[in-house]
Amino acid sequence: MIRTGIAGASGYTGVELTKLISNHPEASLEVITSSSYEGKALTDIFPSMRGFETLVCEAFDANDLAGRVDMMFLALPHKVSMAFAPQLIEKGIKVVDLSADFRFTDAKAYEAAYQPHSATDLLSESVYGLCELFREKIKSARIVGNPGCYPTSILLALVPLIKAGLISTEGLISDSKSGVSGAGRSLSLATHYCEVNESFKPYKVGNHRHTPEIEEILSQTAGKNVAITFVPHLVPVTRGMISTIYATANQGVTLEKVRETYTDYYKDEPFVRLLNPGEFPAMSHVRGTNCCDIGCHLEPSGNRLILVSAIDNLLKGAAGAAVQNMNIMFNLPETAGLDAVQTPL
Ligand SMILES: NC(=O)c1ccc[n+]([C@@H]2O[C@H](COP(=O)([O-])OP(=O)(O)OC[C@H]3O[C@@H](n4cnc5c(N)ncnc54)[C@H](OP(=O)(O)O)[C@@H]3O)[C@@H](O)[C@H]2O)c1
Repeated sequence: MIRTGIAGASGYTGVELTKLISNHPEASLEVITSSSYEGKALTDIFPSMRGFETLVCEAFDANDLAGRVDMMFLALPHKVSMAFAPQLIEKGIKVVDLSADFRFTDAKAYEAAYQPHSATDLLSESVYGLCELFREKIKSARIVGNPGCYPTSILLALVPLIKAGLISTEGLISDSKSGVSGAGRSLSLATHYCEVNESFKPYKVGNHRHTPEIEEILSQTAGKNVAITFVPHLVPVTRGMISTIYATANQGVTLEKVRETYTDYYKDEPFVRLLNPGEFPAMSHVRGTNCCDIGCHLEPSGNRLILVSAIDNLLKGAAGAAVQNMNIMFNLPETAGLDAVQTPL
């Protein structure tokens, strides 16, 4: 059994992790930490867990965690994670961090989008945790920066086609939509019921912090600087994410070739599902799963390629991917704890 702990278990991704690890066949949940709910039972925060979970929130103390856990999930805001992670690594505890603090290879890119980084040594060691792309490096990592939800939905659709040279790296556009849980559990005016319900709006147009994260991986893939126009939108659903991506197919590329490329790239991947020709993803078809569904269409009149990908932002976009990363880091079956089939309701 891999002994795990969750820092920030009182948040949305933290509680998803609690649920996943509680049902994991080869991992146990030993500790949950919270700064606001120290001493409170998790069931006091999330009454749906009554009768199934007995853990009580503790204050975060790396000294106390040594010997109790093999790894920690940090389901914390950025900046908090970079303060906690070095203490854990020093104690020999592996880390999967769900914040942005350990996602970047380039510290300057991180600092331009976020704030000064206080653990740059670990940043240069950390592995970007998009399992389908970086599995080999994740296997031996001490610290993994779990990808952002929008980047996951966009990179899984674009990377295979860029690697195969099927699309231009110029003029990429992603028009993306997220459910409101993407903003986390803390209160904000922008996510109040009355602000969100029966409405639909773009936000952070031109300055969303996921843009440099997406561009870093696209640029690594292409071997040159790649830019993307990324426009996120908030939709009045609790969970789910769809990215509709517009790319220019290179001369002579057919839809069959695009489909063949995806099929080949993802043939051994349990969590990426290429839909049949003419089918496109729905949030309801991935909700509650660790899957990314991809549909594609090539305009008959030209070279415009439309890619649509859908994930559950709290699972493949956060907690599910974090468990997938843990499975890889500890040489467990990659689907362990993630293979429950959900209904669309
Ligand atoms: N929501 C998503 O769909 C999603 C997707 C991908 C990645 N992420 C990332 O995952 C991380 C967690 O997101 P979330 O949606 O779960 O957020 P959340 O619901 O707001 O939860 C964040 C947790 O962090 C703890 N926390 C807040 N400030 C803290 C501080 N100063 N010191 C210690 N703990 C603090 C809070 O608990 P206490 O106050 O009780 O400690 C809370 O449980 C974020 O970095 C987010 O960007 C989220």
